[in-house]
Amino acid sequence: MLARDLILWLSTKPSVTNTIARRGMKDGFARRFIAGETLDEVLSACATLCAQGRTVSLNHLGENVSTEAAANKVSDTYVHLLELLHARNLPGNTSIKLTQLGLVVGRDLCENLTRSIARRAQELHLTIEIDMEGSAYIEVTLEIFEAVQRASGNVALAIQAYLYRSESDLQRLERLQPKIRLVKGAYREPKNVAFQEKAAVDANFKRLTTHLMEGAARGTFFPAIGSHDPAMAAHAQAEAARLQVPKDKYEFQMLYGIQRDLQDQVFREGHRVQVYVSFGTDWCPWFMRRLAERPANCWFVLRSLLAERKT
Ligand code: FDA
Repeated sequence: MLARDLILWLSTKPSVTNTIARRGMKDGFARRFIAGETLDEVLSACATLCAQGRTVSLNHLGENVSTEAAANKVSDTYVHLLELLHARNLPGNTSIKLTQLGLVVGRDLCENLTRSIARRAQELHLTIEIDMEGSAYIEVTLEIFEAVQRASGNVALAIQAYLYRSESDLQRLERLQPKIRLVKGAYREPKNVAFQEKAAVDANFKRLTTHLMEGAARGTFFPAIGSHDPAMAAHAQAEAARLQVPKDKYEFQMLYGIQRDLQDQVFREGHRVQVYVSFGTDWCPWFMRRLAERPANCWFVLRSLLAERKT
């Protein structure tokens, strides 16, 4: 927990993030998790994954956009991505962060941009997914999700198992019959809102997986199990079998470059697997959260930075 907190704290320090950002792509250590900085690079990574039977969710990295012009530009990028997925016949969608679509500039701006991306996706018979960010944004994210899902019916939402409130949020969302991406949660949250111990987060993840699978059996949820934890995957598979949920009524989701063996194993066992593929130049905060999830990942970054000092 200490190492995780330290890395999440360092991720707010520009002196650290600037160094990592300067070296990450050049030295290659960031490429393990980020498909590339350009559209060409990411589309080529997606084509490879789709040829292997995976679907993809494309995320253009960035968060906390602070001007309307920048938010509009992000929205244009997402519409362009959807059009490219459609034109190239790549099975997939886009994952968006509301703070990247101007949430901190204005709620109406953000909701309108989300609506327009979802509408364009609907025209192309595609879907979009909304990531869940820090707890300060949860209520407004739920409200925007509800509004846009009611209007276009093609939106999925991430729900974080580390939050105490998530079970009641699922009860609230069930009437919209959504696809829910269940994740453990990647931010640093205080103990008045979130479980702090891994065992408690894992237990809640399993409980919410069961809740989602029961919904899937009733036809009210499409569960997307977003985890690299073999124990979470095994629980989801057992619950799907117990409740006789057909394999096309739920899926597993994992991040690009992480636990590829588990991705292959789950896929070989006949389950749907969607890979969340991130790209773009603004990758540092996202990359630091991946390091925080597994501090052992820091060694290859440190080795690379120390090599820089020697040269
Ligand atoms: P856990 O952290 O317990 O890891 C289980 C095992 O997986 C580890 O022992 C290790 O072997 C491997 N592993 C996990 N992370 C690794 C890493 N970074 N590098 C290498 N190995 C790793 N969060 C959020 O707050 N909002 C969101 O919208 C999303 N969206 C999202 C989409 C998808 C598709 C996934 C898979 C995850 C997210 N997350 C997220 C991140 C999520 O909340 C969580 O932080 C990570 O998935 C890590 O938790 P695990 O469930 O993988 O288990």
